[in-house]
Amino acid sequence: MKGHYKVDPWKIIEEGFEPLHQEASESLFSIGNGRFGQRANFEENYSGSTLQGSYIGGIYYPDKTLVGWWKNGYPEYFAKVLNAPNWIGISIEVDGEEIDLAQNKVIEFERILDMRNGVLQRNFIVEINNGNQIQVNSTRFCSLTSDSIGAIRYNIKPLNFSGNFNVSPYIDADVKNEDSNYNEKFWDVTQSEIKPHFGFIKSTTKKSAFVVNTGMMCNILLDGLQLEIEPETVKKEAYIANKFDFYGTEGSEISVLKFATYTTSFNHDQKDLNYETEEVLKSAVSKGFTNLLEEHQKAWQALWQFGDIKIEGDDAAQQAIRFNIFHLHQTYTGKDERLNIGPKGFTGEKYGGSTYWDTEAYCLQFYLSTAGEKVAENLLQYRHNQLDKAIENATKLGFKNGAALYPMVTINGEECHNEWEITFEEIHRNGAIAFAIYNYTNYTGKTAYRDGNGIEILLAISRFWAQRVNWSTAKEKYVLLGVTGPNEYENNVNNNWYTNYLACWTLRYTAEVLNDLKKTNPNRISKLVEEHNLNFDSETTFWKRIIDNIYYPVDDKTGVLLQQEGFLDKELVPISELNTSERPINQHWSWDRILRSAYIKQGDVIQGLYFFEHEFSKEEIKRNFDFYEQFTVHESSLSPCIHSILACSIGSIERAYEHYLATARLDLDDYNKEVHEGLHITSMAGTWKSIVEGFGGMRYKNDCLSFNPTLPKQWSALTFNVLYRGQQIKFNCSSSLITITNMGSEKVNISLLNEMFVLQPSKSQKKEL
Ligand code: BGC
Repeated sequence: MKGHYKVDPWKIIEEGFEPLHQEASESLFSIGNGRFGQRANFEENYSGSTLQGSYIGGIYYPDKTLVGWWKNGYPEYFAKVLNAPNWIGISIEVDGEEIDLAQNKVIEFERILDMRNGVLQRNFIVEINNGNQIQVNSTRFCSLTSDSIGAIRYNIKPLNFSGNFNVSPYIDADVKNEDSNYNEKFWDVTQSEIKPHFGFIKSTTKKSAFVVNTGMMCNILLDGLQLEIEPETVKKEAYIANKFDFYGTEGSEISVLKFATYTTSFNHDQKDLNYETEEVLKSAVSKGFTNLLEEHQKAWQALWQFGDIKIEGDDAAQQAIRFNIFHLHQTYTGKDERLNIGPKGFTGEKYGGSTYWDTEAYCLQFYLSTAGEKVAENLLQYRHNQLDKAIENATKLGFKNGAALYPMVTINGEECHNEWEITFEEIHRNGAIAFAIYNYTNYTGKTAYRDGNGIEILLAISRFWAQRVNWSTAKEKYVLLGVTGPNEYENNVNNNWYTNYLACWTLRYTAEVLNDLKKTNPNRISKLVEEHNLNFDSETTFWKRIIDNIYYPVDDKTGVLLQQEGFLDKELVPISELNTSERPINQHWSWDRILRSAYIKQGDVIQGLYFFEHEFSKEEIKRNFDFYEQFTVHESSLSPCIHSILACSIGSIERAYEHYLATARLDLDDYNKEVHEGLHITSMAGTWKSIVEGFGGMRYKNDCLSFNPTLPKQWSALTFNVLYRGQQIKFNCSSSLITITNMGSEKVNISLLNEMFVLQPSKSQKKEL
């Protein structure tokens, strides 16, 4: 796979058609606009192997959980973002023969994802059986400016013949999720309408009752002029089409324009859907393809103007970071606080499009620094909106007094994971949600969210930790038993260092916030007493007892923080001694063998040292990093980025660079051999962090934004922007000079290589490295 796509700073380019890579390319070349997204499936029919995938944010189906033996506490369902009706289809027959790249001889083929402009293009020439050659150039985008609209311009040219063409733009609502547990269809078609140039299908999701109108308006131009024929209308059970029959002469340019929309009950009153469908399409058509495209491209260019990262001297690294940033922006725009970021975004079905701890632990910082405080606050608010459900979830499990356990996997606040033994026990996700509140407050310097909705979350999570620990008389310590840490290659372990640390940190932070409020805003405390039954003294005193007496597993000989009790009893064979043919181990080993091994799926202790770096010495971080890195197989996409950042902070730049490439090019080079299932969207935010926090060395503490950069030797310069305290801060660094510029209108506190400055608006501060 490595090398299949050309390296280019702004584009992903595939040259030559390789059916074996088709599903991988469908993932890699996906496009979206935060509201909906589309895999890079072909417009024309394709009989080869493919994962047809269109996904709409927020539209899900509760697929009944599939388990061998039901146990109390299993979630009833796994929520799945639905594979939605296909809006891109255009089938083409020439003299009775279909264009189908799996059947035709492909003479030329090129697929391009233009990331600067948010456009997917395809250019190809095929030969159909009798030697007739047809050239196709297609351009497609999901509009950023009219976010219920997708548009396609599909140009066809008969190169060496004239013949009868039959071109049918269509909507196909006969879709299924590949990952359906019981092989069911999740949609019912409830209405459809087709007339010349316009049609829609109304589909309703089973159980969750979302209604989606998938509509289209289409038109054909022949050599730039409207084709003056009335298309035949076709209507089948879950299919509508306009069928245009005409004669195309050699060298003529046939241009199919198709505008499509998803108009949904998520955004509109159900009774208005048909009207809205027609209106939104009419408005797109009257704007015209070119104007709509131009508007869309401008919106992308504006995003890049602020959010781009420039790496000079290393095209592969440059392409990769833009690829990551591009997909993050097309997955989540922050316009709607009901939406979140699924691990695969709109590029595949795995993980159901649901929300994981990935959002708080990985994504929040990216959106906070590149899209602004409001967008990040929407992500925090998403969890506050679901607080009641998190309390309900904990209550079902026997917790009391408003304790909350946020779900590991959710779409509407209810827990809906489908893997009890591992996922359920990852109670550490509760801590990441608390940490995100701290992180946001620390970065923005604003306490309003923390003191308002934030403290309600913190209190509920702290209550959970306080009830989840138990006193061990044997150890004379508080312990946390039966958990899974971030390393999912362990199950039901006792005293996972990361979870214990995070739990105590949450208790500490919540107590700090409450103490602060007691001094600054006693009314808020009274409200918490009244509305949340806060018993300030007894609760905070108990938390302090836990903090002072929690058990942390540590190896006394080496001082290594132990991932969990008993970790050192494992056979400690480093991965360097593991045969590469056995990797990834999750595709070669039995689950039993994985669980017994010392191999680590993703940073666990390392994740904790990343969050709480400021509470540990460099020496402690290095000791643990060196110890755990040798057992870490990075079979979660979330792993290499954190390693890259920590490797930078302990001065191991070469290792940091290796990890950077592994995170940034994870999908482009398909390191984990699974890109056909979709992209790793949430870890892309980790890639961004590995540049900004890793090589850029950005940190924020005590109202000061600091930079301690080190560039890998492959890079001659690095430039990026961050939004900090409402100001745009530009970072530029070469191998010998670092320059920070305040492009905003208010001063900010900056630290450069550990020296503090007040940086006035429009001023730069330079330092030699
Ligand atoms: C990781 C989890 C993560 C999930 C979704 C799993 O492979 O181990 O930490 O939350 O993927 O990205």
